[in-house]
Parts: sequence; structure tokens; C-alpha cells
Amino acid sequence: MSVHNSRSAGASEPRSAVVVGGASGIGAAIARGLAADGATVTVADRNIDLATALAAELGPKHDAAQVEVTDEDSVRELFESVRAARGSVDIAVNSAGVSAAGSVTDLSVEKFRRVVDVCLTGAFLVIKHAGLVMVEGGIIISLSSLNARQPGTGMGAYCSAKAGLAMLTQVAALELAPKGIRVNAIAPGIVMTPLTSPSMVVPGLEDDYLANTPLGRPGTPEEIADAAVYMTRAMWLTGENLDLNGGAHLVKYPDLLSHFRRAAG
Ligand SMILES: NC(=O)c1ccc[n+]([C@@H]2O[C@H](COP(=O)([O-])OP(=O)(O)OC[C@H]3O[C@@H](n4cnc5c(N)ncnc54)[C@H](O)[C@@H]3O)[C@@H](O)[C@H]2O)c1
Repeated sequence: MSVHNSRSAGASEPRSAVVVGGASGIGAAIARGLAADGATVTVADRNIDLATALAAELGPKHDAAQVEVTDEDSVRELFESVRAARGSVDIAVNSAGVSAAGSVTDLSVEKFRRVVDVCLTGAFLVIKHAGLVMVEGGIIISLSSLNARQPGTGMGAYCSAKAGLAMLTQVAALELAPKGIRVNAIAPGIVMTPLTSPSMVVPGLEDDYLANTPLGRPGTPEEIADAAVYMTRAMWLTGENLDLNGGAHLVKYPDLLSHFRRAAG
């Protein structure tokens, strides 16, 4: 088949989108952005109550589904059921993510595995099962991170998982291009969400993030959503890991462990 026939090509064509991790933060903003752009959105998350509330806010043509990204049956069932209900999945976004701070000598292997399981294995399962149901082409977008390229103390699990996801994005882009499926990632810097806000109570930490962000402010979930909507329309873009961080990739990552040690006295 010609890759030009990808279902994500037609600007006016109705498009079916699944946003995994769509109940909160960046994923919720992407769900709103895609709905505003005309897509029919399934908000998928392990938190079904929040997902259902967001789908109701988006309007009657949108819906919600419960999914656990670390469980292959759950991810397979999500994509097969959306395809059965809507006829296609044209856009898949994976925004599910968790973090755990700790030096490599302190972090338990259970915490390390949990971060890798959600952020990397979960992303693999979303790319795999979205790729299997996108028989007429499509676009898959993952949320990687500034930490895919920039190391930070205390971030061994998260940095490793996100760096792996950036590489997985490139491999999947190569493999899925013949099917007309584009695979990209967005790598945000600091964006205030339920994932990040709790650690900002550590004195001086937010100031340090901003001091290392040339544009001098955090990003907003809506700015990340704008990039995701752009990616769904950018028909020649694949294998990209888009740095979206106010220039933070040009400077250095805050020394989290020093902040945490100071805060602990
Ligand atoms: N906020 C930031 O500063 C920032 C920066 C770089 C990258 N990211 C990445 O962006 C993505 C979204 O982050 P956010 O800040 O919006 O976080 P968030 O906590 O607000 O949202 C994450 C969502 O993922 C869901 N989720 C978590 N684990 C899941 C699982 N196992 N199965 C299904 N759903 C699950 C949560 O229920 C939640 O709704 C994450 O991948 C994160 O690593 C965030």
C-alpha cells in the first residue's frame, strides 16, 4: 500500500484517537487538543473515574476505557475494542508515566522495575498493539522526556526508561513506515502536573529548574498538546524525539539528590 494513503493524512477526515494516560496532566491536555482538532477520542487510563469525567467533558462522541499499560492483554483489548467500535484507530498517544527518585545505590530493584515497566515496557505494548490495529496507517506519539538525553542525579530509573523509549521510537518508526504508520515522541522539560508538582515543595528545586531553562518558565500541558496535534498533521515527520523544554536541553539538569539531602537536613 502507498504510505500516502495513511488515514491520518486527510485534514477533514474524521479521525479516531486513543490517548493512553489521558486522564491527567499532559495526556488530558492532548485529549482536549485532539478533540478540539476534530478527532473522536478514547481517554484510556488506569484511573477510570478521571478518564470517564474527562470523556464526559469532551462530549458525547468521546468515551473512556480502563487500561493498565504493563498488562499486554489490557493494552491489546483496548486497541482491538476501539477499532471494532470505530472502524479504525488513526492516532495513538501514550502519556502514561511514573517516576521514582533515588541514587543507583539506594533505589530498590522493585522501584527501578516499576518505572521501566510503566515508562518503557508499557510504551512498547502501546506501540505494538496500536501498530497492529492501524491497518490503514496512522500516527503513534509517545511522551519521552528531557531525561531521555539529559542525566540527572536520583533519576537513574526514569532516565534509563525514557532514553530507551527514545530509541524504541526510532526503531518502530523504521519498522512501521512501510505500513504508513509514523512513530514520534515528544520530550518535555518541566511541566507542572500531578507527576511533578509534589516534588516542587522541596525548597529551591523549582528555582533550579527555571535557572536551567533559558526561556525561564515551565511549559504548560497545552503547549505539549499543541505539538502532539502538529505531529498528527506533519505527514513527513517520523522517528522524531522532539525537545520541547524552553531550551533546557542546552543547559544542565538540577542536582535532585543534593536538593533532597538539603531538604532532609
Ligand atoms: N510533567 C512533566 O514535567 C514531564 C516531563 C517530561 C516527560 N513527562 C512525561 O509525560 C507523561 C505524562 O506525564 P504527566 O506529567 O502528565 O503525569 P500525570 O501523572 O499527570 O499523568 C500520567 C497519567 O498516566 C496514568 N498512568 C500511570 N501509570 C499507568 C499505568 N500503569 N497504566 C495506565 N495508566 C497509567 C496516570 O493514571 C495518569 O493519569 C509521562 O510519560 C511523563 O513521564 C512529563
